[in-house]
Amino acid sequence: MLSKSCQQVHELNFSDVESEVLTLLSRMTIEEKIGQMSQLSGDGCIVSKNLRKAIIAGHVGSILNEVDLDTINELQRIAIQESRLGIPLLIGRDVIHGFNTIFPIPLAQAATWSPKIVERCAKIAAIESSSSGINWTFAPMIDIARDPRWGRIAESLGEDPYLCKTLANSMVKGFQGDSLSDTNSIAACAKHFAGYGASEGGKDYNTTNIPENELRNVYLPPFKAIAESGVATFMASFSDLNGVPVTGNNWLLTTVLRDEWNYSGPVVSDWEAVPQLVIHGFAFDDYDAAGKACTAGIDMEMASDCYLKHMKHLMNNNVISLDKIDSVVKRILTLKFNLGLFESAITSPNQPSNSLNTDHLSIAKEAVIKSCVLLKNDNQILPIAKSAINTLAVIGPLADDGYEQMGTWAFDGKENQSHTCLNALKEVAKNAFNINYAVGMETTRCNHHDGFAEAIDTAINADIALMFLGEEAILSGEAHCRSSIDLPGAQEQLINVIHATGTPIILVIMAGRPITLEKIISKVDAILFAWHPGTMAGPAITDLLFGVESPSGKLPVTFPRTVGQIPLYYAQKNSGRPPIDEKYINIDNIKMRAPQTSFGMTSTYLDTHFSPLFPFGFGLSYSQFCYTKIKLNNKVIPMGGAVEVSATINNVGNYNAEEVVQLYIRDIVGNVTRPIKELKGFQRITLGKGESMVVTFKLHTDELAFYNQQMEYKPEAGLFHVWIGGDSSTTLKTEFEVTD
Ligand code: NOJ
Repeated sequence: MLSKSCQQVHELNFSDVESEVLTLLSRMTIEEKIGQMSQLSGDGCIVSKNLRKAIIAGHVGSILNEVDLDTINELQRIAIQESRLGIPLLIGRDVIHGFNTIFPIPLAQAATWSPKIVERCAKIAAIESSSSGINWTFAPMIDIARDPRWGRIAESLGEDPYLCKTLANSMVKGFQGDSLSDTNSIAACAKHFAGYGASEGGKDYNTTNIPENELRNVYLPPFKAIAESGVATFMASFSDLNGVPVTGNNWLLTTVLRDEWNYSGPVVSDWEAVPQLVIHGFAFDDYDAAGKACTAGIDMEMASDCYLKHMKHLMNNNVISLDKIDSVVKRILTLKFNLGLFESAITSPNQPSNSLNTDHLSIAKEAVIKSCVLLKNDNQILPIAKSAINTLAVIGPLADDGYEQMGTWAFDGKENQSHTCLNALKEVAKNAFNINYAVGMETTRCNHHDGFAEAIDTAINADIALMFLGEEAILSGEAHCRSSIDLPGAQEQLINVIHATGTPIILVIMAGRPITLEKIISKVDAILFAWHPGTMAGPAITDLLFGVESPSGKLPVTFPRTVGQIPLYYAQKNSGRPPIDEKYINIDNIKMRAPQTSFGMTSTYLDTHFSPLFPFGFGLSYSQFCYTKIKLNNKVIPMGGAVEVSATINNVGNYNAEEVVQLYIRDIVGNVTRPIKELKGFQRITLGKGESMVVTFKLHTDELAFYNQQMEYKPEAGLFHVWIGGDSSTTLKTEFEVTD
């Protein structure tokens, strides 16, 4: 194992670590062992008397939410020099989408469909945060999120298990590097294990009810994938899963995670989730909660002190055994050894952090460019030709707000380090055209129309109205759910009045979730969905608007027409009466006293279409890609074999551009019903205008496996449909058979 910094360097192998851990464990008192299982909140740039005392007494294994380098070093110094055994601390922080350089929110990073970019963003986040003394991030968040009302969809990698697990692996690789002990590697954390995304009603912290088959086929695969590829830690979800809060859920934390998956890293609770077992109505008091959480498999308690207060008593009463405590503490110490903390927990103040350096900013810019999704572009209004405009009206509360563009969980980013769109547009406009700016609304939520007149004036006198609307950062993220996901406040009215001026509208939306756009979509000529793009929003979005780059982001989550369609995701089950396009019925066309069965009996709505406004995987380009000639190398595949599926993609438009080519399958008959489409592969390609490429995917029959009624994970013989296309609504299809 390499040491963490400039101090003494030597190598430890696996058995060295094991024997070091055992030696240390043999010297520890019960109190010191329990201390390792406790994570306390930092005091913010100071070390309080109480915290110092607790560290010296060996009652703290980890600190979270301290980011000041000198304070962290002082905490580590106290732990190493003043506690009896000198055990260093894990220093945890929510480094979710960047540290000082803020990258697009995770949902936006998922829209890049680029494992490479996602890995590089995480790597930079690790470089910047480790330079501040942080050695553990609570990311990636890999909750499958199919309800855009849920504010935490912003932190997720979207609705699809395959996309999520692929990108989660890249994120872990970025954070953890080749070795946890490298100077700039930090431990990652798979959270929130598991099912949190299914919170009822899209309301945070709410109950989840997920049948085991659905849990295993949809919610668990990303966790299993990164457990296998070496994520250092897990965090248990706050939520109640099928009646048993995860913090006390022995089946999930022990039977599945330890016994089935053989996962060996520590599991941390979420914030005060141990005492919350009492509030859930699952434990009688904190003593009971500590016993239940520890028995179920929570190794470290975050922020509260039930373990500190009650664990010894629980041991004396034979509720928790010494063996159990030893196995927990071994996991925590092993992580500390693997991180190299025993060689050096002190971060050199001279270690160059390079925060926000040109390299970091250029990756941040690239991530924004690849994550923006072009939803509409009538008459090719985009890209804007500089020479064709005299005046550009820039309207909206998000055009020039360096804070809001960072999005949720951007604690360590600074507003004044953000590059806004207005500033970047001014650079582009120099000597070429005029910019007239009107904020229109003070905030995205404001309901009055005081700024409308100025915005209208600005638009009337312009060739194009470029509007920057959406959600402020506070409208998504933890505990920030919405029952309506329309543009908030008076934004729709603002669009209406600008539309009435007759000036064409290009709408850039910054938001932490999908927005229902049906009511305004016909009023605008183009929509670029930019999510919350982070530090480099301005330079990246202007490059897209002026055609320096072509949009290539694809939706990692379905955009519903209306909130009433939720949950709406592409991988739905067919049902026995699937919706049929021709049978779509509009409520306004129903004749009086129409017979009950007169327009067919299918799974649809009377008052909105059954389809989404934009499907999963969707995203336009300035160019156009034509998909043809889907081919298989074999129509019959023996079980255990593989099939190659290919299609030809032509860039028939006028721009060199990137495209995300997507592979979907459907298992026609299953022991349990299978989704009507399932993503099984994707490739980001670059094609010059006029160029074409054959893109081939290799699909092994193992990749067709799913959990059946008996909860066995295996592929089944039979007929499969397979599609290749630019989004999940692709119709370019062929079929193959798998034989036993
Ligand atoms: C609560 C959140 O659920 C979790 O995601 C986060 O890592 C912790 N708090 C620590 O801030």
